[in-house]
Amino acid sequence: MELEKYNACSQAARKLIKADLVLKNASIVNVFTSRVERGSIAIKNGMIVGIGDYEGEEEIDVEGKYVTSGFINSHLHLESTMVNPQVMIAEAAKHGTTTFIVDPHEAANVAGRDGIDYLLDQTKNSPAHVYVMIASCVPATPVDDNGVRLTAKDMECYVDNRRVLGLGEVMDTQAVITGDPDMNAKFQLFDGKVKDGHAPGLTKEELAAYALAGVSTDHEGTSYEYVMQERAMGITCLIREGSAARNLEAIVRGIVENNATTDGFCFCTDDRHIEDTIRDGDIDNCVRKAVSMGISPIAAIKMATIQPARCYGLRRTGAVAPGFDADIVVWDSLKDFNAQMVFYNGKRIDDGMLNIQPAACPPQLMDTVHLSNVNPEKLVIKPGNVPFPVIKMIPGEIITERIDMVLPGTENGGPFVPDDKVCKIASFERHHYTGKVGVGAAYGFGIRGGAIASSVSHDSHNIIAIGDNDEDILLAVKELERTHGGYTVVEHGKIYETLELPIMGLISDRDQSYVSEKVRLMTAKAHEMGVPKDMEPFVTLSFMGLPVIPEIRCIPRGIYSVDERKLLT
Ligand SMILES: [Fe+2]
Repeated sequence: MELEKYNACSQAARKLIKADLVLKNASIVNVFTSRVERGSIAIKNGMIVGIGDYEGEEEIDVEGKYVTSGFINSHLHLESTMVNPQVMIAEAAKHGTTTFIVDPHEAANVAGRDGIDYLLDQTKNSPAHVYVMIASCVPATPVDDNGVRLTAKDMECYVDNRRVLGLGEVMDTQAVITGDPDMNAKFQLFDGKVKDGHAPGLTKEELAAYALAGVSTDHEGTSYEYVMQERAMGITCLIREGSAARNLEAIVRGIVENNATTDGFCFCTDDRHIEDTIRDGDIDNCVRKAVSMGISPIAAIKMATIQPARCYGLRRTGAVAPGFDADIVVWDSLKDFNAQMVFYNGKRIDDGMLNIQPAACPPQLMDTVHLSNVNPEKLVIKPGNVPFPVIKMIPGEIITERIDMVLPGTENGGPFVPDDKVCKIASFERHHYTGKVGVGAAYGFGIRGGAIASSVSHDSHNIIAIGDNDEDILLAVKELERTHGGYTVVEHGKIYETLELPIMGLISDRDQSYVSEKVRLMTAKAHEMGVPKDMEPFVTLSFMGLPVIPEIRCIPRGIYSVDERKLLT
C-alpha cells in the first residue's frame, strides 16, 4: 500500500479522522475467531480500517443484520453463460459474490490469447474482483482439433499480470503424471503460483503423482470418499454446484455424517446457466444449501471467503478485518442468506454499477466458423452387418456409455438409417477449413423429423450435430456457418429457430433475455421432436465431443474411446 493511502487509513483506524463509511451496529462474522462479534465497521479508501465504535462521513445502521466478507466463486467459466461475461458477474454480485476466479478455457480453445484477452478486457471494469487462471490444456488432448494450440511460450505474457493467479484446470492428467515436457514447461512457467486441477477418477497413486507436480485444487470430485483422498494429499476441494454437475449434496453429506473438518473446502459453480444464478444465486446458494444440510453457518462462510482467498493467495480478501478490501455483504440471517446490501471496495453496488457496457469485440473473434467440404457423402456410414460402437447418451449426465450394435439399415450392407432409438451424430471441424467430419450413432436422444446443431461443443467447440436424417443435419450445419456459430433446430427441411452466437461461436452479442427466450423455444421444440424430457438437449449434445470424460465421444477425427484412448472409426 502506498504511504499516503496507508496514512489516511491509519488515521481513520485511530479515530484521528472520520472514516468514509461506517456500517453501524453490525453482527460481524469473524472468520479468524469463528465468532459473531458486535461492532461498527469503519471503511476508508475502499479498505476496512477498524471494527469498534467509529464515526463516518456516511453511516448506515445495520442493526439486526449479519455482515460477512463478500463471497468468492473459486472456479467458473463465464463463456458458459453465452452472454457478455459481465452479465454473470453482475447477477452474482447482487447475490453477494465479490470475487471471481475465472478460467477462460472455452475462449482459449477457439481463439487462444485473443480469447483470454477478451475475457480479461470485458471484465476489467466489473463491480467485483475478477481474476483469471490461464487455460492449461488448449487443446484438451492431442486428438482434439481446436482453434489454437497454447504453449508455455504463448503464456509468458500473462505470468506477471496482476489479475492472473496461475494455471487453469489441468485436465490432461496423463500429460502431467507421465511427465510430458510441454506440460512440465507450463508448470515451471507458473512456478510458485496456483495450479488448478481437474482429476476425476484417478487412482490413489496417480493422484499422488498429480499432486506432487504441484496441482493444489480440484473441482471434479463427486464423492466424499474421493475428495477426502485428495484432502489427505493437501489438495483443496472446490465443491461444485453448477447447472449440470452438482456435487455439493454428496460431499457435504459426507462431511456432516463423518463430522469432518471443512478446512480445505471451498465452493465454485464451474458451468452455470445465468437463469439458475438469477433464480437461486451463486455462492450464496452453496452456503445456504450447506447450512441447511448441517454445516455450521460460520464454517460455511469460511468456505466461501477466507478459505478460497488463502488458497489463491489473495491476502487482502476474505475477511471483515483491518487491512482487508471492503468487499462486504449485509445478510438478513445466517440461515436464509438473502443479501441486503453488497459493497465492493467500499462502494455499495447499485444499479449504476451493474449497468453493463460491453467492451468492443475484436473483429477476428466474430469470424471463427471456418467449415469446408460439408457434403452428404461425408455423413454416410456403411459398416456392414457388424457391431458398431454407439454412444449411449444419459439424461442428466455428461458421461456416456458404449454400446456395440448392428446399426439399423446396415444388416445387408446398406447405409445406416436412423430410427427412433438411434440417431446420427456428427462433429465438423470448424476452425481451419480442414473438412474433417467424424460421424457416428447415438442412442437415447430420440429426435425425429429433424436435427439440432451447436458450435458450443466442449472443449474444442467444433460444430456438433445430431438428427435422424442427413439433409436436416447438413442444413443445421450450414445455418451455423451463416450465423458464425450458435444453436439451431431444423425440422422437416426448415430452420425452426437459431440462436446466433457470433463471438467465437460461444457468446451472443444480444442481451440475456433474448438468449434465454431462444434457448427456451428451441429446447421445447427439441423435446417435442422426441428428446427425452429429462435430457437438456443442447447442453447434453455439447459434451458429446469432449474426449476427456468417459466413455465414448464423437470428434472430427471419428468415434473416440476415452477409456482406451483411441479412435474406433
Ligand atoms: Fe471447470
